[in-house]
Amino acid sequence: MKKKIPSLLFALIWGVSLPVFSQLPVYLDDTKPVEERIDDALSQMTLEEKIAMCHAQSKFSTPGCPRLGIPEIWMSDGPHGVRMEFVWDDWRHAHWTNDSCTAYPALTCLAATFNPELAYRYGKALGEEARYRGKDIILGPGVNIYRTPLSGRNFEYMGEDPYLSSIMVVPYIQGVQENGVAACVKHFVLNNQEKYRNAINVEVSDRALNEIYLPAFRAAVERAGVWAVMGSYNKYKGSYCSHNDTLINKILKGDWKFDGVMLTDWGSAHDTDEAARNGLDLEMGTWTNGLTWGLSSTYDQYYLARPFLEKIKRGELSETLLDEKIRRILRLCFRTNMNRQRPYGRKLTEEHTAIARKVAEEGIVLLKNEKEFFPIAPGRYKKIAVIGENAVKKLTEGGGSSELKARREISPLQGLIEKYGEENIVYSMGYASGAPDYSRELPSGFDADSLVRCAVEVAKNADVVLFFGGLNKNFRQDCEGDDRESMDLPYGQNELLDKILQVNSNVGVVLISGNAVSMPWLKAVKGLMQSWYLGSEAGVATARVISGEVSPSGKLPFSIPCKLEDNSAHYFGLESYPGDGENVYYHDDILVGYRWHDTRHIDPLFPFGYGLSYTRFEYGDTRTDKVAYDICDTVRVEVEIANVGRMDGAETVQVYVSQKNPSLPRPVKELKGFRKFFLRKGEKKWVTLEVPVQDFAFYDDRQSRWVVEPDSYQLQIATSSRDIKQAVEVRVNP
Ligand code: BGC
Repeated sequence: MKKKIPSLLFALIWGVSLPVFSQLPVYLDDTKPVEERIDDALSQMTLEEKIAMCHAQSKFSTPGCPRLGIPEIWMSDGPHGVRMEFVWDDWRHAHWTNDSCTAYPALTCLAATFNPELAYRYGKALGEEARYRGKDIILGPGVNIYRTPLSGRNFEYMGEDPYLSSIMVVPYIQGVQENGVAACVKHFVLNNQEKYRNAINVEVSDRALNEIYLPAFRAAVERAGVWAVMGSYNKYKGSYCSHNDTLINKILKGDWKFDGVMLTDWGSAHDTDEAARNGLDLEMGTWTNGLTWGLSSTYDQYYLARPFLEKIKRGELSETLLDEKIRRILRLCFRTNMNRQRPYGRKLTEEHTAIARKVAEEGIVLLKNEKEFFPIAPGRYKKIAVIGENAVKKLTEGGGSSELKARREISPLQGLIEKYGEENIVYSMGYASGAPDYSRELPSGFDADSLVRCAVEVAKNADVVLFFGGLNKNFRQDCEGDDRESMDLPYGQNELLDKILQVNSNVGVVLISGNAVSMPWLKAVKGLMQSWYLGSEAGVATARVISGEVSPSGKLPFSIPCKLEDNSAHYFGLESYPGDGENVYYHDDILVGYRWHDTRHIDPLFPFGYGLSYTRFEYGDTRTDKVAYDICDTVRVEVEIANVGRMDGAETVQVYVSQKNPSLPRPVKELKGFRKFFLRKGEKKWVTLEVPVQDFAFYDDRQSRWVVEPDSYQLQIATSSRDIKQAVEVRVNP
C-alpha cells in the first residue's frame, strides 16, 4: 500500500518548488510576449555567442546558443520538396537512407494551375515533410519574374505575371508556416537570369521594379507574413542585393515592415561593413570562407563572423547592428524551433502523394487539339508508340539546388503502360542526353543515329505517336548556374520529329520543360501539351490527362513567343539580355510578357493564360454591382459560364484591367483577378470575381508612389490574355 504524503509535507514541497518555477528565464517562458523573450535572451548572450548565430556553421545550419539551450537552425531546399542531406561541410550528398521525399511539381506547374487552394495544400504538405525531417526553414518559394525563356531557373518560379505569382505565393507560404517551419521567399530580387548571376548589375526603372519585380515579394511579406527572405546574387544600383541598403533597409524592412530574417544566397555576401549596415541578418555560404570558391578554412572567416566581431571590438561597427540581427534570428526561433506548440510533421503520406498528383493534373496545359486528337481513351488505338527520352528520364534529379531524392517518381511511360496495358505500348528513346553533373553534362553514350532509326521504325508501325520531349535538368537547360543558349529543343529533337512525321501523321507532342521552346513542327502535329517537371506522380497525372480521365485545366503562366526576338528582353538586343557582363539594362521596362506582346501588337505563338480543355465553356452575361466606384471599393464582377461540352471540367476565368486615359503610359491590359472553378457537364453558374479598386493602381515614378487615377477602366473577362469574352466599363470617382 502506498503511504500517504502528509499534506503539510506536500505544501512544503510546493512551497519550495514554486520559487524554482518562477525562476524560469523569461526567454523560455512561452506565456510571456515574444518580444520580451527576445530581449531577455539577447541580454544574456555574449558578443561571441551573438556573432556565432549570424553566420553558417555548416552547409545548411547555423549554431544556436548551446549555453542558453537555444537550438541550431536547420534549413533545406526547396522549393519542390525537401532536399536530400549533405555532408556537414561540403557539397557531397550524405547518402542517408531516410532522406527521400515526396517530389511536388515545379512551381511553374503550380502557377499553371491558377488554383490558390492547391498552392496552400502544396505548402502545407511540403512544410509537414520539412518539419518531420527536422528543418526549420525551407528555402523557397522562388518568385523571380520570368523575363526571358532562356533563364535557367524559370522552372522554379511562378511565371511572368506579378499578379499571378502574388496570388499563388501567399497560400504556399501560409501552408508551410502552419507547420512551424519558416518559408524563405527567394531570390530578392531581379535574379531574372542565371548567366552572370554572381555579379551582374541590373539597371531597371523604379516603375518596372515596383510594378513587375517586387509585387510577389511584397505579397509574401505583407500578406503571407513570411519569416525569411533570401537575397539574390546579382547587384542593383551597383550594390549586391544581399546587402543592399535600398532593397533591404528601405523597402523590405522599412516600407513593408518585414520582421523576419534576411539571409544571403549561398556565398552572396561580399563585404562586412555593407553586410552589417545594410540589413543582412544571416550569412550562409558555399565554401567555408564564405566565398563561392575558396580555401578550406573555417566559417570564422565569413564576413559576418570574425571580421564583424573585430570591427565591433575596434568600435568601427556598433553592437546594436548585431543585436538587431540577433533579434530577428531569435524571433524566427520562437516561431519555429522554440515553439512548443508546433506540430510534429509527417512525410511520404498518401495525402502528400495525392496533392502532388492533383497539382500535376491541374497544371498540364493543352495547347493544340486538332480533330480531338486528345483524349486517347483506352481501346481507341491498338498500338501506341511512345517516343522520347523524357518519357523515362528522372526529372527530379539535377537542375541545381532544387534537386530531389524522390521516394518514387513514376515516369510518363510507366503511367501510360499502367493505363493502356503493356501490349498496347511500344517505346523508343529517339534521342538521348547525358547525365546531369552540376556545371556540365556527361556524354550520353548512345549512338544518336541508331536511336533515330529505331524511333522512326517504331513510329511507322504505330497507330498513334506520343512524343515526349522538351528540356531536362541538365546544365544550360532548366538548371541553376547558367542559361539556355537558344530557344530550340536540344538533342536533335526537331529533326527527329520531322522524320517521325514523314512516316506517321498521327502525332501528339508532350513538352516537359519549365520554359518556352520553339516549335517549328507545330503545324504538322495534331496535339500538343505543355507539361512540366511534375515530380513523384508525373506518369500517373500525365496518363490520367492523356486518357481523358481528367480534363486538362492548366493555363500558361508565361507567353510563348513565335521567336526569341519577339520576347521583350531579347527585342532590345544584347544590352537588355544578357548584358555586357557588368550591367544588364531592362529596356523592356514594364512591358514584360503579355504586357509587351499586347501593347506592341506582337502576336505570341501561345498567349499567357491560354489553355484548352476537353470540354467547352460558354461565357454568358457579365454584370458589375455598380458603375462608379470610390478608391476603397471593390468591384464585384459576375459572369455566367456554362459547361456545354462533353465532359466535366474546370475553367479559369481571368479579369484584365485597362485604364482609358492614364497620365503615364501603361500596358494595354493587366491581370487583376482570376477564379478557377469546376463545372459538371451541362452545368451553368454565375461566377463572382472581386477586384479591389486599389489594384487598378500603377506606380507613379514622378511621385514615387502607387496611384489610382479617377478615370474610366475597362474590365475584360477572358479565358486567356488574347481571348476576351466580355468587357464592362467602370468609373473611379475623383
Ligand atoms: C541557390 C539557392 C539555394 C542555395 C542553397 C544557391 O545556389 O541559388 O536558391 O537555396 O544555393 O542550396
